[in-house]
This record gives sequence, C-alpha cells and structure tokens, in this order.
Amino acid sequence: MDIVCTDKETYIFETIAKAAAALNLPCYLIGGFVRDKLIGRQTKDIDIVCIGDGIALAHEVASFFKPKPPVSFFKTFGTAQIKIDDLEIEFVGARKESYTDNSRKPDVLPGTIEDDQNRRDFTINALAISLNAADYGTLIDPFNGRQALNDKIIVTPLEPSQTFSDDPLRMMRAIRFATQLNYTIVPVTLAAIESNVDRIGIVSQERITDELNKIMLCKKPSVGWDLLFRTKLLHKIFPQMVELYGAAYIDGIGHKDNFYHTLQVLDNISEHTDDLWLRWAALLHDIGKPATKRFEEGHGWTFHGHEVVGARMVPKIFTKLKLPLNEKMKQVQKLVLLHLRPISLTKENITDSAIRRLLFDAGEDIDALMMLCSADITSKNKSKVKRYLQNFELVKQRLSEVEDADRIRNWQPPITGGIIMQTFGLGPGRQVGIIKDAIREAILDGVIPNEYAAARAFMLAKGAELNLQAVE
Ligand code: CTP
Repeated sequence: MDIVCTDKETYIFETIAKAAAALNLPCYLIGGFVRDKLIGRQTKDIDIVCIGDGIALAHEVASFFKPKPPVSFFKTFGTAQIKIDDLEIEFVGARKESYTDNSRKPDVLPGTIEDDQNRRDFTINALAISLNAADYGTLIDPFNGRQALNDKIIVTPLEPSQTFSDDPLRMMRAIRFATQLNYTIVPVTLAAIESNVDRIGIVSQERITDELNKIMLCKKPSVGWDLLFRTKLLHKIFPQMVELYGAAYIDGIGHKDNFYHTLQVLDNISEHTDDLWLRWAALLHDIGKPATKRFEEGHGWTFHGHEVVGARMVPKIFTKLKLPLNEKMKQVQKLVLLHLRPISLTKENITDSAIRRLLFDAGEDIDALMMLCSADITSKNKSKVKRYLQNFELVKQRLSEVEDADRIRNWQPPITGGIIMQTFGLGPGRQVGIIKDAIREAILDGVIPNEYAAARAFMLAKGAELNLQAVE
C-alpha cells in the first residue's frame, strides 16, 4: 500500500477488495482518508468509490462484517454507509457531474475513476488508492495531489472558477482546509474565490456555519477569518465583522484596527481553550464598537457602551448564522456584556464590594470571563501588556480570596422572595422586589454579612421603612 494502515484498516480494505472482485466492480479508496493518511492525520471516515453500483457493493461488504446497524443507504444519491467499530465507510458509484446555475446539487451520471477525481474540490482531496488485484494499493494521483501535500498548497484539479461556481461551498472549504492544515491557497485559486463570492448566496446557512465552526476550532482561527475578509466572502456572510476593520484618524489621533485586534484576541483565547463558545465570545466581544464609535474633543476615540450594544447584537447574529439559540448563546452574550469589568478593576482601588459584584454578575462564567479578559490584553507596547497582566493577576487573586470568604459565585441571597411575602403577609408585587434587591445590595456592598440572621434583621428594618408590619 502507498499509505500506512492499521491492521484493522488493512483487513477491512482486503475484505472490500474481495467483495468488489466477487461483483466484478473496480473499486478505490478515495478523498479525505487518503489525504489524511499521507499527512499522518487521524481519520475515521473512509470513502470507497466503485465503477458501478455502490449500494450493491456495500451490501456485499456487509455480508462479511454483518454490521449493526445494517447498511443504511440513500437510493436517490446512490450512496450507502456501514459502520465498523469507530470507522464509518461510505460507498458510492463513480460519477460525472453537471451543475446548473442555481443549485449546489448536480445532475449525476455514472462515470470512470478519472471522471470522479475530476469533479472533486481540491487536488489534495482527489487522491485515490486502487483496491483492484492488478495494482492493489497503488496511489492514483492525476493532479499531483501528493506534491500539493508536500508543498502545503490548496489548488483545484480543474479551472478554479468552474469548481467554485459549480459548488460555492468549496470556497468555504478551501479556507477551512487552509486554516486546519496551515496550507496556502494558491493565488489563482484565491482569485477565483474572490470573483465567485456572490455564488455563496446559493449555499445554505447551515453548511456555511458548519465551516465557520470548523475554522473556529482550528489552532489559529484568525487565519481563516483573515482569508474570509481578504476574499470578501466575509462581506457576504457576516458584514458586521467587516465593520470592525480599519482605523479612523482625526487630528492625527487614531484608534486600533478592531478587526485585527479581534482576531488577535481570538487566537489568544484559542491557546487556552478548545471551547467553541468561548471562541465565539472572543470573536464577538467588540462587535458593538462600530455602532458606538465617537470622536470626543480632548479625549480622542471612545466606544462607550459597546459592550451593551454588542451583547444586544449577539442573539441577532446567532439567529442569522443559525447558531443555537440556547444557554450557549446566553453565555456568549453574558461574556460580551461583562468583558470590560475585570480590566476596569485593575485601574482603580479594588474594593471587596466591586469584586463581590463581579463574582455575582459573572456567576459560574467567572473563569471564562477572566480568560476572555486576559486574551483581550493586546498592545504593541510590551511593557503596557506586562503591567496590565500583572494587575490582572492581582484581580484574580482578590477574586479567589473574596470567593473563599463570601462564596458569592452561584450565590442566592439567604432571604428569598417567599420568605419576604410570608414575613409581611404580602402577595407578589413591587415591595417584595424592593426588599429583595436591598438585601442583595447590602450583602454585595459588605454592609451586612452573607448570613441568614443578618439578612433577616435587615429585611425587618427595610420593611419598617416601607411601613410594613411583620405578621409572623
Ligand atoms: N468533496 C468535494 N466538494 C465538496 C465536498 C466534498 O469535492 N463540496 C469531495 C472531496 O474529494 C472530499 C470528499 O468529497 O475529500 C469527502 O468529503 P467530506 O467528507 O466532506 O470531506 P473530507 O475531505 O473527508 O474532509 P472533512 O471530513 O474534514 O470535511
């Protein structure tokens, strides 16, 4: 074999070869599996192409392995799938494709292995290995895909504009592969993306967002976002991000380019976490800046309230991108809203009260918030970064001291609304809220300790101020 396989994979390929020979169907291992094996990347998806009926081949292979669940197949697409342990094997007949203007779904005709390799997106994805007796294990590489792997380049097998116009999702895939593998998209291919950006309109949002999430999970996601920007795909799929680009100057005073600052923050946080949602929070943390940008005489550029505006934009952006509108969205929104808080504490005398409020507002997301906030410290001035980071460590230390003493994180005040209603014989209403808020504020400000007896005494005093009589 021209690729190195595990014993299990070898056994599976020999069995598939036997099944294909029994049906007299030439067959090949193709696509991502061959690519990933050649570059030593983990892979679990195996694609098999045969010249003829892929579904019949899947059934024949299944008669050897008796997989559970049995073969699942899609007659309309002519594809079939079986699972053997953790490996997913997909079978399909080799095809020729022809595309129409308004759909990613091609008309499909049976074809040869060459036809099948021609229709693939990139030369690194068009590599095949023969599973036929005459040349078993030989690499079939009509487009120098192996060389492209050595050169670390993304290039299309055919004319790139045709490849992208046929299936515009491939523009996103090119950028995703470049980011995942740290490869370069060759200039003609990159230029073809630029001239086909309008075609992205025929791709479903779900597929676009799948690719965005894959980019987000790369080691250095900025590479992908920068390529999206430079090809102007970003202008089509996420214009609010583009608004962050550039630095305005008035009276010789500029502000930093918020687009590249954002990408730096994203890369910084990605060094510390694989959590997709923390990465999204980093990407969106300054998204409210363009809408709040002002030039104030004597002050320079300001972005007052950008965290509030940004937090309000989060649900709209998640809806547009078809990201889930669940707890994760709320977490991202909260992180965007609070992202300035820890850093603002480094600038003043830090009171216990300010620390308690931060713990209370951030709740269980305090560690994520601290991570975002330290990722947000980007400056060309190294000593400034160092000073910030040192102050920041101080805030962290104070957070853990106050948390140890007062247990504010995930905290509920010791007096509930129910107790207030019972004590004063009240139904639900405004007065209950006033007393409840006053107790919470008193504890956060350190006026009273975080204990039941003190909170109860405070409640009775507050009730008296409001002319309420305790009934029990
Ligand atoms: N393919 C293509 N055009 C697409 C999608 C896929 O030409 N829009 C081809 C490529 O040859 C690819 C193969 O189909 O290698 C399998 O597709 P898929 O499983 O989506 O991609 P992989 O290359 O295996 O990579 P990944 O699993 O990371 O998406």
